[in-house]
Amino acid sequence: MGWGTERNGIGMCGIVGILGKSTVATNLVDALRRLEYRGYDSAGIATVEDGSLERRRAEGKLRNLERRLNDEPLAGRTGIGHTRWATHGRPTERNAHPHMTAKVSVVHNGIIENFRALRAELEAKGHVFETDTDTESVVHLITDEMQKGLPPVDAVREALQHLEGAFALGIIFAGHDDLMIAARKGSPLAIGYGAGEMYLGSDAIALAPFTDTITYLEEGDWAVLTRNGAEIHDLEGAIVERPVVKSVASALLVDKGNHRHFMAKEIHEQPEVISHTLANYIDMAAGRVNFPDLGIALDSIDRVTISACGTAYYAGLVAKYWIERIARVPVEIDVASELRYREAPLPPNGLALLVSQSGETADTLATLRYCRANGQRIASIVNVRTSTIARESHTVLPTLAGPEIGVASTKAFTCQLSVLACLALAIGRARGVLDRDAEAAHVKALTEIPRHVAGIVRHESQFVSIAQELSKARDVLYLGRGTSYPIALEGALKLKEISYLHAEGYAAGELKHGPIALIDDNVPVIVVAPEDDLFDKTISNMQEVAARGGQIILISDAAPHKVACKVAAHIEMPSVGTIATPLLYAVPTQLIAYHTAVIMGTDVDQPRNLAKSVTVE
Ligand code: G6P
Repeated sequence: MGWGTERNGIGMCGIVGILGKSTVATNLVDALRRLEYRGYDSAGIATVEDGSLERRRAEGKLRNLERRLNDEPLAGRTGIGHTRWATHGRPTERNAHPHMTAKVSVVHNGIIENFRALRAELEAKGHVFETDTDTESVVHLITDEMQKGLPPVDAVREALQHLEGAFALGIIFAGHDDLMIAARKGSPLAIGYGAGEMYLGSDAIALAPFTDTITYLEEGDWAVLTRNGAEIHDLEGAIVERPVVKSVASALLVDKGNHRHFMAKEIHEQPEVISHTLANYIDMAAGRVNFPDLGIALDSIDRVTISACGTAYYAGLVAKYWIERIARVPVEIDVASELRYREAPLPPNGLALLVSQSGETADTLATLRYCRANGQRIASIVNVRTSTIARESHTVLPTLAGPEIGVASTKAFTCQLSVLACLALAIGRARGVLDRDAEAAHVKALTEIPRHVAGIVRHESQFVSIAQELSKARDVLYLGRGTSYPIALEGALKLKEISYLHAEGYAAGELKHGPIALIDDNVPVIVVAPEDDLFDKTISNMQEVAARGGQIILISDAAPHKVACKVAAHIEMPSVGTIATPLLYAVPTQLIAYHTAVIMGTDVDQPRNLAKSVTVE
């Protein structure tokens, strides 16, 4: 796997598929070209030719694949294609997609979490693996079902039951010239309708040259495509109708998919972009952190200084807890507008982390320059690689969130947390305070996040009823302890930014020192309380709120009987490793803010008075 600092683009694999009337290879490559913006380091296509599967793959850019195709053309009318951005295994031709056996060929985007177990099981049955990828386990799993006599559709239905993770798949079969199966669990997929032709793509942009008639698969859907159309199944297997929409993707660089707002789209994209960001800093195959060289010995850092503005600052605040607790290094953190003027003394062997989605925020940039002038090694966590903050840093640690259009930051935040979590682990390991088993457990918890986030957004309707109650409130409080404190702050910021309700986040222990005076039965209190070592303390604070009539909305993985307090609503969360909790608990706060704003009728993507990128003081 390559280092983040060497990469271009944003790093999300791209999937395309065509059931055509004539040879599809050229159109597949054209569609892949429209996905180039996602970043990739190898590419390939496969088609069904005279009943057999044939493929061409190449390392590097699409022109290399085109050269291969010129020398050895593919004649099939049914095909899939892929731009791969390496996660499991190096970006070689051998690891490039499509992967295949004699029976089935697969393109895949995302993470198959249980690929090791699947691989071991399938190898024991005699399947021979050729690559280092997690994808190949999908290919052999489907092949195994087909060898038992199942027809393709049943074989995929069965295989999907065994796959854990967040992913998108495109699948074709030997001997089936009029069949393609698509599956979506965490990573987006769009189906395109043509005249006697059908298409599949990671987004509508890929399909814009061929069709503007699109169905976006919903979370958990899988679809059987023939030239006559698509039959879509939901997670439970029932055949469902999904809206067919006219896409305007050809006119836009980014489209909203089937979402009303960019913010909703960006919340839903999180399983995919978190996967890709994590894959940039984790060696998935080894289950270890794989962090770029920061130009400073990680075991010699005396102090880390973090600075940022807005949401990015809250990502930094979570990182303070992680770096201090996991890596045992003291962290100083302040908002950039303060740190830049504080004349804070900085230690000789210090690392400064600047966190910024845009990479252009004036205060953050000024703080970077102050830290640099005071001898700090500068690493920036940015989403825009060409930004000023990126250019002025010693090391750039990119978030691979893709363009974030909604002014209220969502996916950039969880991607910032993904990078910072890996950094805490890297420093901990270098300092010898994090042993291999602990590192492996943290890495496992992180790689499971995309799947859990997909699970939360799948139950989106519960947030609508909570939002209805919140929309009647005047003030809303958010409480949390430990890493849930910054999540409470971020949740309150999200709500006030887009709904214009007054919201404040507090450390739960501070409740008694002021905010408790506000509480009556008109004040909703959102409590971020994973069942961790501080849970009982937070429950006590909840009881104080309940005793004064406050309406508690609890976000927690604790079983209801452990919540010794009356709550108005309980958003039930999955139990995950502690390092994963802030990433996961951010998502309900985003959805609460989003749905409240929708009910209040505000301009969700461009709230009044706010700017996406603040380049003035
Ligand atoms: C503005 C945006 C926020 C963002 C902050 C920092 O206030 O509205 O969403 O968190 O700037 O921006 P940055 O690009 O540096 O992350």
